[in-house]
Amino acid sequence: MFKFLTGATGALGANIIDVLRKDPSVSEIICPVRAKDEQEARARVEASLTARGVSMSDAEHRKIKSMPFNLGKADLGLSKDVLGQIRNQVTSFIHVSIFKYHC
Ligand SMILES: NC(=O)c1ccc[n+]([C@@H]2O[C@H](COP(=O)([O-])OP(=O)(O)OC[C@H]3O[C@@H](n4cnc5c(N)ncnc54)[C@H](OP(=O)(O)O)[C@@H]3O)[C@@H](O)[C@H]2O)c1
Repeated sequence: MFKFLTGATGALGANIIDVLRKDPSVSEIICPVRAKDEQEARARVEASLTARGVSMSDAEHRKIKSMPFNLGKADLGLSKDVLGQIRNQVTSFIHVSIFKYHC
């Protein structure tokens, strides 16, 4: 199963990842987060998990696919490839990000 999780850098998101990573039926957790590119997205999710004491095996790490997104943009600013994957494979959408702008 493929899951789509917003808010992965937050407290609740980290707890949800901690549950999903242990579920053998979950093959991928797509984590769209605020970031300039995929590398930064991955680093932000990893930093949040580490700060919250979630440690994972390499196989569990590979389940997490972090990517940049923008809640204010059409199609969340996601690429056509990602949107295609979401349409074809994602079975659950877990939306726990809040919508906060920093001034
Ligand atoms: N924590 C709990 O125990 C708990 C329990 C029940 C319900 N809730 C509810 O669940 C929601 C999340 O709670 P939380 O404790 O996880 O909050 P949190 O730790 O403050 O995390 C908030 C998340 O929302 C994201 N976010 C904020 N503004 C955004 C924006 N403009 N665009 C995209 N993402 C944005 C943050 O991303 P950045 O890292 O980019 O800021 C972060 O991932 C809240 O509505 C809360 O009331 C929480």
